[in-house]
Parts: sequence; structure tokens; C-alpha cells
Amino acid sequence: MSKRNKTSYTHWSSRWTFIMAATGSAVGLGNIWKFPYITGEYGGGAFVLVYLACIAIVGIPVMMAEVLLGRTGRTDPIHTMISLSRQNDAKAWWAIIGVSGVLAGLLILSFYSVVAGWALDYVVKAINGSFSNIDAGQAGQLFADFLSDPTQLIISHTVFIILTAIVVALGVTAGLGTAVRLLMPLLFILLLILLGYSLAEGDFNAGLNFMFSVDFSKLSGEAVLVALGHAFFTLSLGMGAIMVYGSYMPENASVAKTVFIVAILDTVIALVAGMAIFPLVFANGLEAAKGPGLMFVTLPIAFGHMPGGIIFGTLFFLLVSVAAWSSSISLLEPGVAWLEKLGVKRWLATALLAGLGWLGGLACIYSNNWLDDKEGRYAFEWMDHIASNIMLPLGGLLIAIFVGWIMRRSAARRALSDTANFWFNLWYASLRVFSPIGIILVFLHSLDVI
Ligand code: TRP
Repeated sequence: MSKRNKTSYTHWSSRWTFIMAATGSAVGLGNIWKFPYITGEYGGGAFVLVYLACIAIVGIPVMMAEVLLGRTGRTDPIHTMISLSRQNDAKAWWAIIGVSGVLAGLLILSFYSVVAGWALDYVVKAINGSFSNIDAGQAGQLFADFLSDPTQLIISHTVFIILTAIVVALGVTAGLGTAVRLLMPLLFILLLILLGYSLAEGDFNAGLNFMFSVDFSKLSGEAVLVALGHAFFTLSLGMGAIMVYGSYMPENASVAKTVFIVAILDTVIALVAGMAIFPLVFANGLEAAKGPGLMFVTLPIAFGHMPGGIIFGTLFFLLVSVAAWSSSISLLEPGVAWLEKLGVKRWLATALLAGLGWLGGLACIYSNNWLDDKEGRYAFEWMDHIASNIMLPLGGLLIAIFVGWIMRRSAARRALSDTANFWFNLWYASLRVFSPIGIILVFLHSLDVI
């Protein structure tokens, strides 16, 4: 799919491959697993609204900035930031964006791979017919039993890390584009089938009401921070993943249009997943604030009762695993691209970083029983919290400041040359003012300062 051209960087074969790869990175467990469960924990409608505002005001402008940096620098995030700082007479410490990105990627990979392992295991459970005629209690028990078996968890986590490492070692541009182009639409169709089931059998009104009726009294400072963190997480922003993908983007593709398409696809998929899940939660008397197990408890009930449930269930968890797979490779790619640039062989760089992610996953698994414990935080929650709610927004803040204030305006204008003046100015204002202020306000609010 990719080829080396005269200017010596690898690039995607077309704009569509970039869109599909970026969508592959963006759409993953964040949409189908994490979005519904945090929406449940943080009270529904008001949280969803703040999340959508974060995507529009901060997410899309920062994503454009990140793609633009990558496409201008044409190398891994650390070296890109070093060379762009030099070109703009700034200090090389802006490379911190790349460095913290590599660390955040490893931190996220640690728990991401464990949860993706759950999905892999659920493929097997679906094939075995473990869901047939299951009720809410049994579905909860099935999940609890699974979590209390470290051997199972380690096996599926290990399989997932190996799958991720194989793709990264082969090079992200080879084959990935084709895979996501076929599988992403399939995942979407399956989600629509689930949505149809939810509409027919679930308590659809209660679900809609929960997700879309806004009651700001339910919104805590922490909820706002989580909404912002999730906007970054779900768009794969703030750690160089989108930057490194942008560095492979062809020159003639429009940054604004492609980013817009990716953000819309990502958001629609998250909302559809929520609308498929919550009606089942309410129809089965489950709790919306069930936490990380939400998807793994509700959806088996649906598959266990629908005609063809074994096939749909198997296919669904398989596609969730694939969506997680096309995301997790982008967690490793910035670090691997950086080591490769330093002269480390690609396979070795991959093995090294994937090994670290594997160890992080073991820490998650052994600090188990997080599911029932809302008071104490375990490794899983800490990793997610530090990476998603602190490192990613901070990375995004630095990216916005760099492109808005440090990089020459003419360089940014050139990179977005196909964008009309009005939109360019709006974007530029968001990067210079709205996004940074928004991120800072959310931080202050979550610290109870305002
Ligand atoms: N966006 C992915 C999801 O929603 C997860 C992910 C992939 C990610 N790469 C990332 C998150 C980089 C943050 C940064 O599942």
C-alpha cells in the first residue's frame, strides 16, 4: 500500500487510506466500551453534552494542529517537534510533547490491551453459546467469574499484545489500510443491528432520556475533566499518534476535511454504541453506573435472546477486538517510529515497547477487583486517569500553544492552504484562545478552584 518516494518519507496511498487509518485509530474501545460506561458513571445527558462540546471546541482544532505538525515535520513526534522548534526559533524542549506522548501511549496500551483481551475472550464465549438465554444476573456472574481468573486474563492480554506488535513490526502502512477499510463499515453495520434490537426489545425511551436529557446539577468538576479527557482519548489526540499518522499523509489531502470526517465518524459510532447499550440496561433492571463491565454484561443479554445471536455475538466481539487492534497499533507507533529514527531496528523497537505494555497489563490484572470497588483506585484506574485525563489534555494544550503561538502563522496557513479564510481564522482563534482556555478552565474546575 505504501511506497517510498523521492522525498524519502513513507506515505499512505491516498487520502482515504489516511482517513481510514485515523478512523481505525480513533474508533476503538473508547467508543464502544469506555464512552457508554463513563456516561453511565457520570450521570448521562449533561456529561454527553459537555463531551460533545469538548470534541467541537477543543478536539477538532487540536486534531487539525496535530495532523499539521506531523505532515510538516514528516518524522516521528519527538524529532518533528525538535525540528519544527528550530525552524521557528523556539527551544527544543517542545519535544516534551513527543516524549510524554510515548509514555502516555505505553500507559494507555497497558490497560487497553487487557480490556481488548476481554473482548477476545468474549468471542470464544459467544461461539460456545455461553450467552444463550442468559439473564442479567447470569451475565454479571459470567463476567465476574472471568475477571477472577488471572490465567484467562493474561492469555488474552498476551495474545492481543502480540497481534498489535505484529502489525507495528510490519509497518503500519502495509496492509492496515485495507483491513480498516473493510472492517470499520462492518462494525458499524453490526452496531446498527444492535441498535435495532435495542429499539425493539429494550427500554428505548429510558435510554434516550438518560443520554440526552440534560441536568447540569448532576455534573461534577471531575465529570467535566473526564469528558475532556475522553474527547482526547477517543480522537487519539495529545500523544503523537495522530501526529505520526499525519506524517504519512499525502501532500494533496485536505487536513481540515479529513479531520472533520474522522471526528464525525468517531462521534456517531460512540453515540450509536450508547444508544444500543442503555435501553438494555434499563429494560433489564441493571445499573447505568455499572462501571467498566457495562458492555460485557448488557450486550451478552441481547445476543442471548436474539435470533442468530451466536453469529451476531461472535461477529460483534470479533469486530470490537479488531477495532481495538487498529487503535492499539497507534499507541505504539510514535515510540517505535522514534526509536527507528535513532537507528534501532523496527522489530526490536516494537518488541521493546510492546514488552513494556505487556508488563503494565500484568500490573492491571494483578491489581484486580477494581470493578466492585468505587472507593479505592487500582492500577487500571490510575493509568487511565493519569494518561487520559492529565497527560493527553496537557499534550493537547502544548500542541495548541505551539501551533497557535510559536509556529509562524504563514507556515500554518500554507499547511491549510485549501481552507477558506473564514474557517482558517476560526480554527486559528480556537487554537490560540478557545482551546487553551477551555483546557485550563477544565483543569481548574476539576481541582475545585472554580
Ligand atoms: N482512540 C482509541 C479509542 O477510542 C484509543 C487510542 C488509540 C488512543 N490511540 C490513541 C487514545 C492515542 C489516546 C491516544 O479506543
